[in-house]
Amino acid sequence: MGNLTRVGIAGTGSYLPKRAVPNKYFEDFIETSDEWIRQRTGIEERRWAGDDEPNSFMCTEAAKRALDDAGLQPSDVDCIVLGTVSPDRMLPAVSPQVQANLGIEKTGAFDVVAACNGFVTALNTAYALVASGTAKRVLAIGAERLSSFVDLQDRGSCILFGDGAGAAVVTPFDECQQGEILRTQLGTDGSGRDFIYMDAGGSTRPPTHDTIEAREHFIRVQGREVYRFAVSTMTQIVADMLEGYDRDELGMLVPHQVNQRIIDAAVERLGIPEEKVFVNIQKYGNTSAASVPIALDEANRGGKLPSGKLVVMCAFGAGLSWGGTLLRW
Ligand SMILES: CC(C)(COP(=O)(O)OP(=O)(O)OC[C@H]1O[C@@H](n2cnc3c(N)ncnc32)[C@H](O)[C@@H]1OP(=O)(O)O)[C@@H](O)C(=O)NCCC(=O)NCCS
Repeated sequence: MGNLTRVGIAGTGSYLPKRAVPNKYFEDFIETSDEWIRQRTGIEERRWAGDDEPNSFMCTEAAKRALDDAGLQPSDVDCIVLGTVSPDRMLPAVSPQVQANLGIEKTGAFDVVAACNGFVTALNTAYALVASGTAKRVLAIGAERLSSFVDLQDRGSCILFGDGAGAAVVTPFDECQQGEILRTQLGTDGSGRDFIYMDAGGSTRPPTHDTIEAREHFIRVQGREVYRFAVSTMTQIVADMLEGYDRDELGMLVPHQVNQRIIDAAVERLGIPEEKVFVNIQKYGNTSAASVPIALDEANRGGKLPSGKLVVMCAFGAGLSWGGTLLRW
């Protein structure tokens, strides 16, 4: 393989479901309150997808918007890499449906399963494909419809998650002259695999009446353990991404929207000013793989990514899995 191609982000897009679910919604059936949820998580409402908004639909809309932003056509795309843990169906992957929806005839398309780190994993994979010359224009997508898997009897987890999708078009930097990817990181610690999990539905515990009765098809979260992991991991990823750079060069940090308190604690340790941290968790909750690309798209469209400055994305979640991307916007 020859020299690596420089790689940039040519455009971003996102899609949020129409239905907003305020914190008060949960007060009717679990012991919780709007005040508790706001104070402990920063979430005010989240979006939950309707029957007409499957995961693949949200991905397609986000992808169309990202392609528009990049000034490209679906036919320009030669690979789709899609991070999700809530596919339309267990089989096949979501990305072939997105390819069909976009009307692209021939392209590589595959899903990656990295939970809340799904988009950063997809983006870093897209980077590697373009940098190596394996693909030229890649759609990196992060999407989730976790409302289908939350247990409305479990107050420690059902209030956290929202649905949505976000996308970025990754191309050679020469073509887009924007968002050059300078550094990537992916990490895993499988010893924490039982911090966030779904017990049944996989091949070791396929669905039975018993698994359904035992409510084993819902997401379970060890909130406190994840909290500690998230603060230290976010701090470490951002420090790694910025190593060797002057901190003043940072234009915007776009973190996984996990919990306002987790973000605040990590940012305080890092000494990054509040105005350089993009947060939209109050509107959307934790949208898992969709959280970073939705935030990136809102920051981009809102003019919050200063040209020529560094942008850091970081994500972490079930696995345990984490990732970071450093860009110069
Ligand atoms: C879940 C989370 C919001 C809980 O906040 P916390 O401050 O850590 O709260 P704790 O877990 O210490 O629980 C404190 C009390 O609040 C209770 N509680 C939990 N959820 C509640 C809710 N929705 N409403 C009211 N009380 C709640 C707990 O039962 C506990 O009560 P107890 O002391 O009687 O046992 C927080 O830990 C978190 O955000 N963790 C990471 C979330 C995560 O895993 N995200 C997905 C992966 S990225």
